[in-house]
Amino acid sequence: MAILDMRLLPDPILRKQAKKVAKVTPQLRRLVENMVETMRDQRGVGLAANQVGSLQKVAVIETPEMEEPMVLINPEIMKAEGERQVEEGCLSVPGYRGLVNRSEKVRVKAMGLDGKIYRLNAEDLLAQALEHEIDHLNGILYIDHLVDHESLYKITYHEHDDEEDEFDGDLDDGEDEAEESTESVAVETSDSGAED
Ligand code: NI
Repeated sequence: MAILDMRLLPDPILRKQAKKVAKVTPQLRRLVENMVETMRDQRGVGLAANQVGSLQKVAVIETPEMEEPMVLINPEIMKAEGERQVEEGCLSVPGYRGLVNRSEKVRVKAMGLDGKIYRLNAEDLLAQALEHEIDHLNGILYIDHLVDHESLYKITYHEHDDEEDEFDGDLDDGEDEAEESTESVAVETSDSGAED
């Protein structure tokens, strides 16, 4: 296994549409293993393949409640219900967090590493992670869903912060000790959505 290099904004691969995976191959399994290792190393809740330089339609998610990571091949949102505002960050947009609109519940269809299609209903952090990672595979970033232009914050840390407080991964739940400055910052926010 290996820790992969993270692709960061404004890397154009983050704006590309990932390609559907035809079948589970040994190479795909290796990519998934490395993605899981990279996600854990970065203390993220999820990771999409384009964030590590691959345009295959694959993402992994591991919330604190999970015993093992969820592998999503060719995932699709089948149904989304409700609306809520949540704070999130992204491993590809380090140093920032933002307030975004997300669904309350989602229903997702995906293929697992066993090659079988599965469906799941999710809410709370898992629903947020599913929307965030599936967006990545469609070239969409959370900054496209900001509630408004003032909703992106630069994170500053206390001097005494230890490593634990550096957690700034995809979708961390905002319970770290980071302070958010009120200064708003323009980082490629665009009202037009997912265009490069
Ligand atoms: Ni992300």
